[in-house]
Amino acid sequence: MALIKDILKSMDYGPAPEGSEHVLAWLERHKVGFGHFIGGKFTKPGALFDVFNPATGQRIAGVTQGSPQDIDAAVTAARKAQGKWAALSGHERARHLYALARNAQKRERFLSVLETIDNGKPIRESRDIDIPLVARHFYHHAGWASLIDSEFPGAKPVGVCGQIIPWNFPLLMLAWKVAPALAAGNAVVLKPAEYTPLTALAFAEVCVEAGLPAGVVNIVTGDGATGAVLVQHAGVDKIAFTGSTEVGRLIRKATAGTGKKLSLELGGKSPFIVFEDADLDSAVEGVVDAIWFNQGQVCCAGSRLLVAEGVAEPLYAKLRARMGKLRVGDPLDKSTDVGAIVAPTQLQRIERLMREGAEEGLEFWRADDALPERGCFYPPTLVTGVEPASILMREEIFGPVLVATTFRTPDEAVALANNTAYGLAASVWSENVNRALEVAARIKAGVVWINSTNMFDAASGFGGYKESGFGREGGREGIFEYRVVVDDAAGKRYAKAGAPSVFPGAAPVGDGTDIDRTAKMYVGGKQTRPDSGYSYAVLDPKGYEVGLAGLGNRKDIRNAVEAAGKAASWGAATAHNRAQVLYYVAENLSARADEFARRLSAMSGASGRAADAEVDAAIRRAFFYAGFADKFDGAVHATRSRFVTLAMNEPWGVVGIVCPNEAPLLAFVSLVMPAIAMGNCVVAVPSSAHSLSATDFYTVLDASDVPAGVVNIVTGEANALSVTLAEHDGVDAVWYVGDAEGAAKVEALSAGNLKATWTSSSAIDWTKAEGREFLRRACQVKNIWTPYGE
Ligand code: NAI
Repeated sequence: MALIKDILKSMDYGPAPEGSEHVLAWLERHKVGFGHFIGGKFTKPGALFDVFNPATGQRIAGVTQGSPQDIDAAVTAARKAQGKWAALSGHERARHLYALARNAQKRERFLSVLETIDNGKPIRESRDIDIPLVARHFYHHAGWASLIDSEFPGAKPVGVCGQIIPWNFPLLMLAWKVAPALAAGNAVVLKPAEYTPLTALAFAEVCVEAGLPAGVVNIVTGDGATGAVLVQHAGVDKIAFTGSTEVGRLIRKATAGTGKKLSLELGGKSPFIVFEDADLDSAVEGVVDAIWFNQGQVCCAGSRLLVAEGVAEPLYAKLRARMGKLRVGDPLDKSTDVGAIVAPTQLQRIERLMREGAEEGLEFWRADDALPERGCFYPPTLVTGVEPASILMREEIFGPVLVATTFRTPDEAVALANNTAYGLAASVWSENVNRALEVAARIKAGVVWINSTNMFDAASGFGGYKESGFGREGGREGIFEYRVVVDDAAGKRYAKAGAPSVFPGAAPVGDGTDIDRTAKMYVGGKQTRPDSGYSYAVLDPKGYEVGLAGLGNRKDIRNAVEAAGKAASWGAATAHNRAQVLYYVAENLSARADEFARRLSAMSGASGRAADAEVDAAIRRAFFYAGFADKFDGAVHATRSRFVTLAMNEPWGVVGIVCPNEAPLLAFVSLVMPAIAMGNCVVAVPSSAHSLSATDFYTVLDASDVPAGVVNIVTGEANALSVTLAEHDGVDAVWYVGDAEGAAKVEALSAGNLKATWTSSSAIDWTKAEGREFLRRACQVKNIWTPYGE
């Protein structure tokens, strides 16, 4: 043992171990193994797998590998419980959530130590961050339970939610998933990660202690195979997943066409941008929290340091000095900064990536290579001068490795920041508030922290852009994931779904010397001929030709997507400007109402009165969204003190919209108007059978100052064109209304770049299809955390 006089000389930390007796005694009590928690009871342990303490390599528990029968039993229990749970008043549900919060809080010390033993994270983090946030989430959502009916009118619970969580924040991820689901009246079957199932099982005990009705929360342990069974179970209405992008894609494909609601919170490669006017000492502390928090095993870790060239060397020097002070070791020691990597396979993954980086000639800097003799550890590492194309800049390392590069201008910083398939988070450091906010707005990420990093709170939404997934967890925006709107576009079903189709016998498009009666397509503000050179006949109900429309193909869609991408400045126009343009569209449509009505009658055989009514409804709809363009605004969330957390509704970017056959003008207007009102640019595939309403419409767009590329119209076989839209990486979201097969295909193919989809294969009463839900679907929420005060 060190003598006091030696300690006074070295000023080194002495050991400060956190007591673990209670947890060890609990593990000892369960040494025969843990069963699942189904229907309010623990099942008998089945086929067990081992759980290890990554800091020591010791086996700490045996946990049951969930079988398909176990998943089935859990889903059945959840189904049985859900109706009664949903039928409780919001207040009653709130009391249950409040009890969960209280009971979790009472067990804070126990849960922190258990989390640290199971996961390897420093006790300082589990005690001060993870577990307090767990309680905060249940408290916050107890509030939503009381408010759900008044704040979310016209919506009901989704039903049974399958929830699959990762190992990096085991209990916190459980809270992020379970709390909103329960508040909104759902029952859950949760599968924790195989490396870290123990706090979820302890939480099951908390549920019992808190008197939660049996079956409302069910926990089934197991690996990816168990997760896959849960995803595929027909009794599950929604899947919420956090984990790797790779598994996220599998889940997107597996749920395609099943009608299951889906939210995905996936990987990241988040930029940490330091401008020359940043407070460098604060930025260094930020880096520590960004990449060495939880050993860098954080989906939103600031893993790419982008630093202004002029301050790069001083920043690196400060960082190296700080790295020399990081203490790597026993996670249960209260003065440990960096604990253990969760499991040998993760350590090997980090080592593999680093070997590949070394093969590229990259050099790593470490303050100290010395690591504890046993257990899974990796030293904090800095890699500078990394090119954007390097594997270490592109791949999520999920370890304590910071890769750095420099930039010269703010534009270059933004370009580097956005040069990734991911878009989960970003951190921006500058003392110039104008610059920081401008950069925050231009970064494509779901969360941006200004002069701060890794800030979380239950009142703020969290979730990604691009391949970091879709859906939000936390805050008001998180509740939408656990409610379904009862009375939205799919209100009253009044007709059979119309499968989009075009007619055989495509006619060649005239060479321009004849009088060409073929309606052209509309791309980049210009009327364009189809790439195929073919058109198809648009028929009336008796089979007579009303006109010809271009037969669009993949190339036409690609051109339209390119044109839409180039019109992105529409999203930056003021909402007032967008509103004016939409009003103008309504006005011009109104001026030509009779002509549009005649066209509708000719194509669909609608009576004069019905056609007039459809045109009138379309004019009203354009007015409606013109009115909403500057009113569907965001929020300032009440999160931490001295932070303004701005929840901004941002457009997706390019939205593909595939319209149904029914109500050809009204459906087109009902879908396109909210999308452009929110600042998106659209590639629209109108009703295949009645496409001439949409091609007539582009003259209205032309006359209404809609900038070129904001609305592009490609006619043809809707289901074929929707495939290209769903596959295209330049498309950020796809809305599809058509048949079930087409909807399933769109969802499955969207897995490529994980674009958000909104599909319906039911016919819709378009006279009622308007409202906030359309605007919400036209946006993604970005939360910007801005600190204030000195
Ligand atoms: P993973 O994505 O395989 O595991 C996350 C969860 O999904 C676990 O509960 C797992 O059992 C489950 N799962 C695995 N395959 C499944 C399937 N086919 N169907 C349903 N559920 C399935 O992540 P893994 O392998 O543990 O880590 C690999 C890499 O993924 C990490 O190195 C990191 O880069 C990334 N990752 C990202 C996370 C994040 O929070 N964004 C969390 C965990 C991992």
